[in-house]
Amino acid sequence: MKKRAVITGAFSYTGSAVARQLVNRGWTVHTLTNRERPAGAERISTSPLRFDEAHLKNELEGADVFINTYWIRLPWGEQTFDTAVERSKMLFRAAKMAGVSRVVHVSVSNASAGRNLGYYDGKAAVEEALRRSGLSHAIVRPTLIVGPNDVLTNNIAWFLRHFPIFPIPGGGDYRLQPITLEDTARIIVSAIEDSSDVEVDAAGKTVFTFKEYVRLLARACGVRRVVIGVPATLVLLALRGIGGILGDVTLTKEEFLGLDQELLISHESPRGEESVENWLMKNGESLGRRYRKEIHRHFGEGSTMAVLNPGTDPE
Ligand SMILES: NC(=O)c1ccc[n+]([C@@H]2O[C@H](COP(=O)([O-])OP(=O)(O)OC[C@H]3O[C@@H](n4cnc5c(N)ncnc54)[C@H](OP(=O)(O)O)[C@@H]3O)[C@@H](O)[C@H]2O)c1
Repeated sequence: MKKRAVITGAFSYTGSAVARQLVNRGWTVHTLTNRERPAGAERISTSPLRFDEAHLKNELEGADVFINTYWIRLPWGEQTFDTAVERSKMLFRAAKMAGVSRVVHVSVSNASAGRNLGYYDGKAAVEEALRRSGLSHAIVRPTLIVGPNDVLTNNIAWFLRHFPIFPIPGGGDYRLQPITLEDTARIIVSAIEDSSDVEVDAAGKTVFTFKEYVRLLARACGVRRVVIGVPATLVLLALRGIGGILGDVTLTKEEFLGLDQELLISHESPRGEESVENWLMKNGESLGRRYRKEIHRHFGEGSTMAVLNPGTDPE
């Protein structure tokens, strides 16, 4: 009999790549999402990601594995990192009540090292809740995931395409270790098909300084730009103004602090196999053509539209 996976976000970013690999490996996939099903994803059944324990338990019944990608990038409206922690715990409780055999949770690199950063503190709390749940589990901690339809790398490319100078907050000597989307999904699928309690990073082979990464993106987009270090407070202030004009949050202070504290690097042997540089050079032509609005995609009208449906991609 086919194994059944329930996953959050199969029509969004990371979850879509995981769902695709699972379907290709013969799994039955059911997703919890508030997005419409895109063309080509007919084999994935769907139900709303509604934070009601009875509903979630019902949807999780009969699953061999539950893959949790749910999180918020930043607090917005009534959604805070505290509410995201509570919702994540509810998902785990529902999985346990439904008798799910295994939970694979997508966290972030150095989840417990980002002290006083809401994103990381919240991630650490969710990891701990899963460890204490008594469920068979895996925790996969990606660094920065690079792939089609990503927000962060795409928007750096958008800035590079539109402005002659790229001011780097704090100089950009801090390092990051990005990984491709397909590699991330492969590592998550391997954790799904494992049966032991494991905690692994998902990081690529190459460590870049942020400045090197921006220069690589400029090369990938085929533009020559002046990349200069500027005090972080000035860049963040300017980004707040630009965000106001774009109707978005471009980069939060906490995200900058996470970068500056080098939380997007791994201290394990890299599991990524695909070269991020090659991926960017190959896909540079499509990067940054349109600015992608985080707020629209996750908190606004775009939150019901499939991210991977080119016909309806609203951004
Ligand atoms: N992207 C990266 O570079 C990166 C790096 C490190 C770690 N991670 C982690 O990897 C996981 C997946 O990230 P992703 O970037 O691929 O995210 P995503 O696909 O955009 O979203 C993942 C899930 O969270 C839900 N979600 C996101 N924002 C929400 C909101 N405001 N309200 C309700 N639900 C919301 C999505 O719901 P819908 O299905 O309805 O969209 C989806 O189920 C997250 O845990 C993230 O922290 C990502």
